[in-house]
Amino acid sequence: MQDVAGKVAFISGGANGIGFGMAQAFVAADMKVAIADIDSDAAHRATARLGKRAVAVPLDVTQPEAWEAAASKVEAALGPVHVLCNNAGVTSAESVLHDTPLEGIPTDEWKWLMGINVTGQFYGLKTFLPRFKATQDLTHIVNTASMAGIVPQSRAIPAAYTISKYAIVGLTEQLRLELEGFPRIGLSMLCCGLVKTQIQSHSLKRAPHISELEKAKSADNPFLDALSSAMSPENIGKRVLKGIRDNDFYIFTHPEYKPLVQIYHSEMEASFGASAELGYTDPLPTWLPLKR
Ligand SMILES: NC(=O)c1ccc[n+]([C@@H]2O[C@H](COP(=O)([O-])OP(=O)(O)OC[C@H]3O[C@@H](n4cnc5c(N)ncnc54)[C@H](O)[C@@H]3O)[C@@H](O)[C@H]2O)c1
Repeated sequence: MQDVAGKVAFISGGANGIGFGMAQAFVAADMKVAIADIDSDAAHRATARLGKRAVAVPLDVTQPEAWEAAASKVEAALGPVHVLCNNAGVTSAESVLHDTPLEGIPTDEWKWLMGINVTGQFYGLKTFLPRFKATQDLTHIVNTASMAGIVPQSRAIPAAYTISKYAIVGLTEQLRLELEGFPRIGLSMLCCGLVKTQIQSHSLKRAPHISELEKAKSADNPFLDALSSAMSPENIGKRVLKGIRDNDFYIFTHPEYKPLVQIYHSEMEASFGASAELGYTDPLPTWLPLKR
């Protein structure tokens, strides 16, 4: 979608961080933006900074009916949506407070994080894909994954977060196959390394399963908002805009992760040995997308 001027973007989690960086880049390119966020105050502060081409709509991405209501409000205010940025996300709130092994993740935390990071994006697609398939206009979807969904990096990235981002990589790769017959719908998967946002404190503040007492104790945690010297969300936003214009499927913003990806992929490739059943061969060419 080279010509983005006048197009409408719907950005979940657009009130802060990476989503707001996208909104800034889009408005600078004469697009209109809907800041759809659970934090209404932050959403209104964001639209005040963005000017008259931006509107705020309340959205909890875990509520399918809220998606439909938000989409209708945006269509009434700005016109049909052309770009969906499925971006709202949280990190593990528990991990800000404790070093928790996988089996120690509280069930409430697992459900909360997966509900936002994974199911939230699924609901976004359920809301907008039928609209995008029905229109003759060019449209585009950007799913925010993470480098954490391409390679696990270290214990510093919480387990539940990594698992949720692997799910978004699977969701987006599958969607790419399903959109092969829809050349007017572009698709990108945003995979960032560290970005200078307040995802840790925002996640802790919103986590319903952590007591106010525990949240108050976290103020002394030196690792809270450890992302303060990371890449700027404004530059991520500009790269996403370029990705929409050029229809880049993979949007990798941090090239320094490439050697890590190569290590994992080389190990996988080297691990393909002999067939488990002598003489058996899957009929790959008829159903696998071997050409890209
Ligand atoms: N910061 C990083 O280093 C980094 C790296 C890679 C990927 N990401 C991903 O980028 C996305 C944005 O994260 P960020 O770092 O900008 O964090 P952020 O906290 O600055 O922004 C996230 C936004 O999502 C909103 N949100 C949270 N729960 C919501 C819900 N239920 N419904 C609607 N909105 C909700 C928050 O209010 C906030 O405005 C996330 O998907 C995150 O996983 C972040």
